[in-house]
Amino acid sequence: MAYAKSIIDDIFGGIRPAARALDKSASTIQGWYEAGTIPQKHWEDVIEHAKAFDHYLTPDDFFPVSSPAMSSHGYPFEKLHCLTIDDFHRPDIETLLSLGEHYLDLSVQKSPDRSVLRGKTLVNLFFENSTRTEKSFELAGKRLGADVISMQVASSSVKKGETLLDTATTLNAMNPDLLVVRHGSSGAPALLSQKVSCSVINAGDGMHAHPTQALLDALTLRQAFDGDTDGLRIAICGDILHSRVARSNVKLLNMLGVEVRLVGPPTLLPTDVDRWGVDVFHDMKTGLKGCDVVMMLRLQLERMSGAFVPSKREYFHFHGLDRTKLAYAKTGAKVMHPGPMNRGIEISSDIADDPDISLITQQVETGVAMRMGILHALSNAQDGVRS
Ligand code: NCD
Repeated sequence: MAYAKSIIDDIFGGIRPAARALDKSASTIQGWYEAGTIPQKHWEDVIEHAKAFDHYLTPDDFFPVSSPAMSSHGYPFEKLHCLTIDDFHRPDIETLLSLGEHYLDLSVQKSPDRSVLRGKTLVNLFFENSTRTEKSFELAGKRLGADVISMQVASSSVKKGETLLDTATTLNAMNPDLLVVRHGSSGAPALLSQKVSCSVINAGDGMHAHPTQALLDALTLRQAFDGDTDGLRIAICGDILHSRVARSNVKLLNMLGVEVRLVGPPTLLPTDVDRWGVDVFHDMKTGLKGCDVVMMLRLQLERMSGAFVPSKREYFHFHGLDRTKLAYAKTGAKVMHPGPMNRGIEISSDIADDPDISLITQQVETGVAMRMGILHALSNAQDGVRS
């Protein structure tokens, strides 16, 4: 993974000999070693000095296939915003997932790289409540060395009647580099992205999109299925109608070659679902048949204006996941949930807390690493550095 390490060790014989050969301080070389990458402005120098050690490097040697520093397709990541999955092509997704994977490995080793966002400011602007998404962006930004501000909308001028665009103008004047936005209205982050001069990341807008959740779910799946999600069968179940998580997941999973099914009562399925490119089921027994993964969604009572389900008890009886219904899926099937969970409504605690079945804790852990990867890629694109 870390090409800098192999160049420093294998060609120059370690950090100190490399520092001497390249006429740099040992701490500079150590920085490259730990980051796993050598800044592009030093490549020529390294190529030149490697010749004395009988190694003839080319710029391609600074982009090994598994390095997070480049897309695995040799296609540069140039997106400045992360607003919906539709904005990305498959190579962009591969770049993001491989960066997320890189940070997942690093966090296991507990050595985050704080130079990636050093000197940059990340502002979290959450107009809707959030625990895991907001905190994971905060942690991701801090682990990469950014200054992080989380705007408490309840105590900000927004509650005093300031419009979204006034808030954007005020924030823009503070010159953030990355703005993470969650809003109850679909399209709010996209609108903001046209008014501010920094990268905007959609952390969930209305029922529309939640691209970073879809990316972290895809990364969690790759980890759980040894990197191979092609051909998996996944059932996304429950309140599809109000779910931005379902919308973004369907798009991304379809792109990754996963067979997606939606399972829910007719009242909780969108009217245009026949255009989503998925199979639709109304009962768990047929919907879960042969599935490798069951992704449960929260019943989003706050987005319901009337009664979409007869009662919570009846909902659990027909659509909540318990061991009996999970037995309809493949033996050994895994369970996911983006959180927060309504225990006893869409999922039983027995399933949610069983580490042999549930990937829910992994989703939270992967969320931080995936968001580090997203921030890294956007920051590189801002700086014109190839990702
Ligand atoms: C989801 C959201 O906010 O859309 N949660 C999350 O991001 N962790 C799903 C939900 O609220 O049910």
